[in-house]
Amino acid sequence: MDKLVIEGGKPLTGTIRIHGAKNAALPILAASVMASGIHSIDNVPDLKDIDTMMKILNAIGCRAEMREGRIVMDTSGIHSSHIPEDLMRQMRSSIFLMGPLLARFGEVRVYQPGGCAIGDRKIDLHLRGLEALGATIEETETMIVCRAEQLTGTDIHLDFPSVGATENLMMAAAMAEGTTMITNAAREPEIQDLQNFLNAMGANIIGAGTDTITIKGTKELHPEPYRIIPDRIVAGTLMVAAAVTKGNITLEDVNPAHLSSVIHVLRRMGVQITIDNDIMNVSYASRPKAVERIVTAPYPSFPTDMQSQVMVLMSIAEGASVIKETVFDGRFKHVDELCRMGADIRVDMSSAIIRGVPRLYGATVEATDLRAGAAMVLAGLAANGTTVVEQVHHIDRGYDRIEHMFQSLGASIERVKPAAKSKTKRIVLMD
Ligand code: EPZ
Repeated sequence: MDKLVIEGGKPLTGTIRIHGAKNAALPILAASVMASGIHSIDNVPDLKDIDTMMKILNAIGCRAEMREGRIVMDTSGIHSSHIPEDLMRQMRSSIFLMGPLLARFGEVRVYQPGGCAIGDRKIDLHLRGLEALGATIEETETMIVCRAEQLTGTDIHLDFPSVGATENLMMAAAMAEGTTMITNAAREPEIQDLQNFLNAMGANIIGAGTDTITIKGTKELHPEPYRIIPDRIVAGTLMVAAAVTKGNITLEDVNPAHLSSVIHVLRRMGVQITIDNDIMNVSYASRPKAVERIVTAPYPSFPTDMQSQVMVLMSIAEGASVIKETVFDGRFKHVDELCRMGADIRVDMSSAIIRGVPRLYGATVEATDLRAGAAMVLAGLAANGTTVVEQVHHIDRGYDRIEHMFQSLGASIERVKPAAKSKTKRIVLMD
């Protein structure tokens, strides 16, 4: 397993372009199977999760390949709607293929998605919504088989504004007979991107970005070239990097409107942020001030995907801050790792109490999940001394070569690959 070795304490400076959004690209790649033909999707980030999605698409018969951030894919040859178990296990987001494959082929077989490091990842809202659209669902211990001769539009209310369920049901409804209205829908920017892509392919959807999305089913969709929006969480991670390293970073190709809650919190902490259209400058002015309390919640509230990163800034702030995590029930695994670096953080049920300390110290720590891993890199960049981050594969799921990203801003960070196993057998001479 790769490791990252970081010499902390260097202010990051420079300019960096934000790569395409993982959480927009995944549902859009899934949606492409609904239209037979050649697709061309631009600004796709080069990530492990994207690679996994492409393996799944190729396994069911698409010919997908990626060149310099563009995925060209032929979906006319799809011959199966059975997602391979090993690939399903690698990435929960393969669940996004349920709606599209059901809409186009009338059947889809997936494996129960495992939970993951950030908590229970149920899919009951996805399944109940597909049933409401007329699908039959057969579940075993390991498998889920959905079938539908014809999906029929209906009204669906989500008990929780689930991002994935909203996206899956939008896609399934896009080719259903009649009209579907999803209420209490998630409002994330990635859902708006999916709506724009589906409409470009000939769908008839309005309301993404609000809590009510109306989908008028259309018989057939056709491929259309598309460009993915920038990744707001990668942008937010870099904003925190500027603050924790006392640096000054300019972000290009960023959409500030997607980051208003993050901008608000960082400004309250004393971080200087100036915006000029799709360019944002983030600079350190003085030791960050604690924020009494932030609560993670569905968009446009403070994003759960930025919780661990902002906790790093709070850990070296002046005063005590509280973060309440309301989206996932297990998203504080990075707390122990931060405490190993000298942070003073206590978890009480779904809240973390962070008492700012003057500095963090380098240590060997673990990336316990994608965003927690990014937070450990931020902590290493800020800390005095050397930090080794292990289990880096978690980070590679959502950041395109994170070490290059920070090296380009002046960081001392190297990826260390495991030593190749020696071929020669050691002969132990018995005396
Ligand atoms: C998406 O996951 C993102 N992933 C996550 O980003 C993000 O953290 C999450 O939305 C919340 O914003 C992608 O878009 C690929 P949810 P998703 O369904 O769709 C419960 C990252 O770091 N729930 O909104 O899985 C669930 O248990 C990743 O990039 C049900 O109870 O999130 C959780 O507590 C991590 N039943 C809550 O809703 C369901 O059927 C939020 O889940 C579905 C979800």
